[in-house]
Amino acid sequence: MKTSDDYNELMLHPEELGVLSFKAVPKRRIEFCIGRAAAHSALSKINIKNFPILKGVHNEPLWPKGVVGAISHSGEVALAAVARKEKAAGIGLDIERIDETIPKDIIKVVCTIREAGWVNDSKDRKIERLIMVFSAKESAFKAFSPIMNQFLTYFDAELIWDEDASRFRGKLLTKVGPDYIEGYAFEVGCRRIGQYIFTFMSLPPLL
Ligand SMILES: CC(C)(COP(=O)(O)OP(=O)(O)OC[C@H]1O[C@@H](n2cnc3c(N)ncnc32)[C@H](O)[C@@H]1OP(=O)(O)O)[C@@H](O)C(=O)NCCC(=O)NCCS
Repeated sequence: MKTSDDYNELMLHPEELGVLSFKAVPKRRIEFCIGRAAAHSALSKINIKNFPILKGVHNEPLWPKGVVGAISHSGEVALAAVARKEKAAGIGLDIERIDETIPKDIIKVVCTIREAGWVNDSKDRKIERLIMVFSAKESAFKAFSPIMNQFLTYFDAELIWDEDASRFRGKLLTKVGPDYIEGYAFEVGCRRIGQYIFTFMSLPPLL
């Protein structure tokens, strides 16, 4: 994890600086920089140093060969996680600030009928629940999409909250490439940390 206090563009690999548009506004410069710093720190834990994390055609981070990972930022905080492919086929993570002012109709864009039922079932935590579902789906997107090179929409997966385990039990509603069939089950961990929702998942290695 990195925060805006760690912001220093000199920490970027020179090739990464080329990825950041010279027109980028300060907020974007900070999030890109601390996201890359978090990613370098994660890579160093698996003994990979000085690797420039460039961007693919869908804006996905391009990891070293044999490595999967994900980056997320929200305001002044950035997170990254990586794993070697022997340990995980894909990694997803996401951090979102709980913003009580988000338009409520987002629920129709993000949630299946069942998920919307769970969100609306809460008396005073509807927004928090909506952001939990949103964040978990962003994590799922980051884990599945790069490995299958297929864009996952919000209605390609459904999540059911498991309160005891603090995680969502997810199921694909559609086939995502040859390895992940409709009905494929996965889990997305979810924690509230202060005003943030943090979600994370990993896909078991492909044999
Ligand atoms: C791409 C997307 C997942 C980014 O999430 P976000 O919450 O807006 O922003 P975050 O800060 O969490 O993540 C941004 C980082 O995601 C990564 N990212 C961007 N596009 C990506 C992609 N196609 N695949 C994987 N990672 C991607 C990048 O590292 C980016 O940071 P960077 O530009 O500084 O490198 C989101 O904008 C999106 O398009 N979502 C719609 C698809 C979806 O969620 N479907 C639901 C599936 S069930």
